[in-house]
Amino acid sequence: MIPKIKIPKKAYPTIQIAKSILYLGESFPLKLIGKKILKDDYQTRSLKDEIASLRQAIEDLKTQDQELIEQGLVHLHLQDEIKPLKHIKNYFKILKNVIPSSYQKKYNVNKHFSSEAEANLEGTPDYYKRNFHFQIDGYGTKESAEIYDHQVDILFSGLSDAMRRTVLKPLSLRYEPTDHFRVLELGCGTGSATQWISKAYPNAEIIGVDLSEAYLNECRLKNLPNFTGLKMAAESLDFDDADFDVVCSVFLTHELPQKVITEIFKEAHRVLKDGGLIVTVDSLQSGDRPEYEEGLEVFPQEFHEPFFKAYTQTPLQKHYKKAGFKDIQQWLNIVKCVSGTKPLPTSKKS
Ligand SMILES: C[S@@+](CC[C@H](N)C(=O)[O-])C[C@H]1O[C@@H](n2cnc3c(N)ncnc32)[C@H](O)[C@@H]1O
Repeated sequence: MIPKIKIPKKAYPTIQIAKSILYLGESFPLKLIGKKILKDDYQTRSLKDEIASLRQAIEDLKTQDQELIEQGLVHLHLQDEIKPLKHIKNYFKILKNVIPSSYQKKYNVNKHFSSEAEANLEGTPDYYKRNFHFQIDGYGTKESAEIYDHQVDILFSGLSDAMRRTVLKPLSLRYEPTDHFRVLELGCGTGSATQWISKAYPNAEIIGVDLSEAYLNECRLKNLPNFTGLKMAAESLDFDDADFDVVCSVFLTHELPQKVITEIFKEAHRVLKDGGLIVTVDSLQSGDRPEYEEGLEVFPQEFHEPFFKAYTQTPLQKHYKKAGFKDIQQWLNIVKCVSGTKPLPTSKKS
């Protein structure tokens, strides 16, 4: 067995830049094929613009990550960052999918599934049964789950893990790395955010729920010792009242109709203990950072995100208040993180 090699803190920026260059490079063949198929409909940015915004994003996330490393919450290991065989295998799968996926995009086909996906998606809500991101088979197959993390990294030029780690910011204000507490993660998917919570807080008990058994299975392959995955809708949780200390989600809310967002925060409020913490990490919203406003307009057209526009126009803070959360705080980098607490009951004066 290869020993685990810890990446020294000083090497972090170099590793992150190398990772970003790799994924940016991998995006070019995909863009070239997409452009051939979509022709004039293909939206593109100049390489100069792309590199400028990437540099800004790397800078934004670097400080946050270095603080988290300093606090002993993020431990980077070479083996976790570099898995050459898996990487190459998945990149070929992504290359294979780019042609059908570009045709889906060209003809706006967003509810097309194989029989494997049909079977896996049976019983899930209608808003969910679609090819988000023009992804082949949506969230319905093993292959979709295998390539999901890699696809997201190509989309965000290798920054997606650093973006997800923002979830640790509000947790770090409340918990020490050795603390024991119960976390519910909504829409945990393949565990790409879960793994960071699990490593930062090895004594926490993490329950992840997701509508996709295929994604949960991929998550289980990460072998996180303090994690249990359950197939369940976030808007209809099969847990007792006041069962968790923390409820969190990463990149879930922008894929939900507004009505469902209201329901999931209501459920989160119910299953949280008094004083419990809610944390949501997702895309920036309208008005958060003017320099990203144009990107928020383009994203939903390019990636079949039918609920994204409404998401950007209704601040998460407004949803929190409606559900009854207090002490609302936000962190903005290239993502938005909002935390809140379920208030303690006010004692009645006699
Ligand atoms: C964009 S992915 C995000 C996955 C992961 N949290 C991450 O950081 O990449 C959205 C995930 O939410 C799940 N999902 C969508 N709607 C859901 C719902 N109503 N209840 C539970 N999971 C849901 C999807 O199956 C998918 O795994």
